[in-house]
Amino acid sequence: MSEQGIWVESVYKTYLSGSEEIKVLRNANLRASIGESVAVVGASGCGKSTLLNLIGGLDRLDSGFIRACGYEVDKLNEKGLTAYRSKGVGFVFQFHYLLKDFTALENVMLPALMAGIANREAKKDAEVLLERVRMGDRAPHFPAQLSGGERQRVALARALINNPSLVLADEPTGNLDEYHKSIVSNLLFSETAESGKMLILVTHSQDLASRADRCLRLSEGRLVQI
Ligand SMILES: Nc1ncnc2c1ncn2[C@@H]1O[C@H](COP(=O)(O)OP(=O)(O)OP(=O)(O)O)[C@@H](O)[C@H]1O
Ligand SMILES: [Mg+2]
Repeated sequence: MSEQGIWVESVYKTYLSGSEEIKVLRNANLRASIGESVAVVGASGCGKSTLLNLIGGLDRLDSGFIRACGYEVDKLNEKGLTAYRSKGVGFVFQFHYLLKDFTALENVMLPALMAGIANREAKKDAEVLLERVRMGDRAPHFPAQLSGGERQRVALARALINNPSLVLADEPTGNLDEYHKSIVSNLLFSETAESGKMLILVTHSQDLASRADRCLRLSEGRLVQI
């Protein structure tokens, strides 16, 4: 594996809930190469989102290490994490988390602006991406004016704007009907793995998981190939 891939090694993560310890990840291991797509399945509460949050630098592991896209994720300080989250990785969540007071276009532009891209360029890039996810004509609309599937397409465009080499998708089609599921999943694969980005996809859908290059099951804190 080149150092631009993903290497999750012997990762442990425990949460404290009151005085109770919830041992979520117990020796989790995962590797992916550039351009590869990996699906992670497993029962509700088994730790899939925890794993994605650790890989995406949104949470800290207890022990082990995570390398992704050339970053030593577990060793990054806040400044390093901000750079990694902004440039290395794009997130698509189950619930889109679009900002309600911003239009679709502005939501997509935001990560680019935060990465220091000039307004004009960010706008141009966001317009191109919205066209690619077939939301070009909805650019001036606010999230409340869009359907769930449309919001997910905007969220996908937002995840892609800084051209990350890794896209982390947590149940990206979870709350959509069959028609929008297929539109969003087609776009997810065509905009990531097919164009050389790594994709780690958490899903309860066997259909969606089977489209990935590899499928892993998270069970009892570990990842096993299925
Ligand atoms: N911040 C937290 N504090 C305490 N416990 C947490 C925290 N985050 C997650 N957990 C617990 O860790 C376990 C794993 O949660 P996680 O969200 O990773 O599961 P999941 O596999 O994504 O589930 P789902 O399929 O329902 O989304 C759960 O038991 C959850 O309650
Ligand atoms: Mg989850």
